[in-house]
Amino acid sequence: MNKPLGTPLSPHATRVMLLGAGELGKEVLIALQRLGVETIAVDRYADAPGQQVAHHARTLVMSDPGALRALIRAENPDLVVPEIEAIATPTLEALEAEGAVRVIPTARAARLTMDREGIRRLAAETLGLPTSPYKFCDSQAELQAAIDGAEGRPGIGYPCIVKPVMSSSGKGQSKLDGPGDVAKAWDTAMAGGRVSKGRVIVEGFIDFDYEITLLTVRALAPQSGRVETQFCQPIGHVQVSGDYVESWQPHPMTHAALARAQEIAKAVTDDLGRAADGRPEGLGLFGVELFVKGDEVWFSEVSPRPHDTGMVTMVTQWQNEFELHARAILGLPVDTGLKSPGASAVIYGGVDGTGVVFDGVAEALAVPNSELRLFGKPESFVKRRMGVALVHDADVEHARVQAKLAASKVRPRLP
Ligand SMILES: Nc1ncnc2c1ncn2[C@@H]1O[C@H](COP(=O)(O)OP(=O)(O)O)[C@@H](O)[C@H]1O
Ligand SMILES: [Mg+2]
Repeated sequence: MNKPLGTPLSPHATRVMLLGAGELGKEVLIALQRLGVETIAVDRYADAPGQQVAHHARTLVMSDPGALRALIRAENPDLVVPEIEAIATPTLEALEAEGAVRVIPTARAARLTMDREGIRRLAAETLGLPTSPYKFCDSQAELQAAIDGAEGRPGIGYPCIVKPVMSSSGKGQSKLDGPGDVAKAWDTAMAGGRVSKGRVIVEGFIDFDYEITLLTVRALAPQSGRVETQFCQPIGHVQVSGDYVESWQPHPMTHAALARAQEIAKAVTDDLGRAADGRPEGLGLFGVELFVKGDEVWFSEVSPRPHDTGMVTMVTQWQNEFELHARAILGLPVDTGLKSPGASAVIYGGVDGTGVVFDGVAEALAVPNSELRLFGKPESFVKRRMGVALVHDADVEHARVQAKLAASKVRPRLP
C-alpha cells in the first residue's frame, strides 16, 4: 500500500476486511492486529473464530452479490482478503474494476480459484503445467463416458477420483476402483458439493510417492520495490478421505524435484498475481499443492491464501504463513526462513453439539515442545476441525509422532 500504516479506530487507520473468518482467517487477523491494522471479519455465521479477534464482526452470505457489494461499499476497506472460496467473485472483479477496492491477491485470482475448473484449465491448458488427466462432467452418463473413453479417445480409466467442482477438505470426493463405484461417486459428489451446480471433475489417480504444499509468497522487495517470489521449505502432509490430518516441515526432496516444484509454483502464482490493466500486481501467500514421484512433479491445486497444512509454520518458521501473508499484502518485506523442523496434527470435534469443552489440554501441553490452537468454533461436528497440535523438534519424524500424541490427548465433549 502506498500510505503509511495508521492507528486503528482513527481516521487514518489501515483497514483490512477478511472474507471468511475461520481458523486460518483468525491467525491472519491476529497478525494484522499486531501491526496495528483495523480489522473487519466477515463470515456466514456469528462468532466465527476470526470474528472473535477482529475489531468488527459482520455476518453475511458472501456468495450473495448484492449483500457483498453493499458491505464492501459501506466499510470501504483498504484491502479485501478472501479466506474462503464461496464468495461472489464477479462482484469483487466489478468492484476492483471500478477502482473501489483492492482484492488480495487479485479479484481474477479469487475467481479462478473459487472452483476446480478455472484453476485446472489455467494450469493445464493455458500454462501447460503437468496435472493428472481430467475431465469435467455434468451427469452420471458423462462421467461414465469420461472414464471409459469414447469414439476412439482414451478414457481416464480406473482408479480415478471424482470431486464436485465446488468443494473443499475432501467433501463429496471419492476414489473409484471400478465401474461398480461410479453411481455412488456421482451421488456422493452431488451431496457433498457446496452448490448444487451438478458438475464434477474426474481425475486420473496419481500414484505419488508423497504430496507437498509449497507455500509461495509474492512480496515487495525492500530495495527495488518490485514483486519478488519466495518459497518456504516444502510441507509434507497426509490426507485422509481428502482432508488434512497431519503435516510437517521440511519434507525431504531431491534437488531436482524441489527445483521443479518451485518452477511450477512460480508459473502458477506469477499468472494469478498478474496485474489487471493498470492495477497493482497481486501480493500475498499462496499454498501450492503438488504431487511428487521420484523427480516428477504434478500440479494439483492452489489456494491464493494461507493453507491448512501450513498451520505447522506457527512452530517452524520465524514468520508463520499468516504473518507472511499479512506482511506481503501490506507491501512489507518477508522472511521465509525455517526456525526448526516441526509437525502439526488436527484435533477433530468427535461430537456434534454447541459450546463443547476440552478435556486433556494440560496433558497435551505436557508433551515437550508442544503448542495448541483451539479455534473457538461455536459448534462442533464429529468431523469438524476444532483445533491443532503443534510440536517442534530437531527430528521431523519425532515431531510427527509427538504432534499426533499431543492431539490425541485433547478430547472435546459436550458440557
Ligand atoms: N488425482 C489424484 N490422484 C491421487 N490423489 C489425489 C488426486 N486428487 C486428489 N487426491 C488426494 O485427495 C486430496 C484432496 O484433493 P484436493 O484436490 O486437494 O481437494 P480439496 O480441494 O478438497 O483439498 C489430495 O491432497 C490428495 O491426497
Ligand atoms: Mg487440497
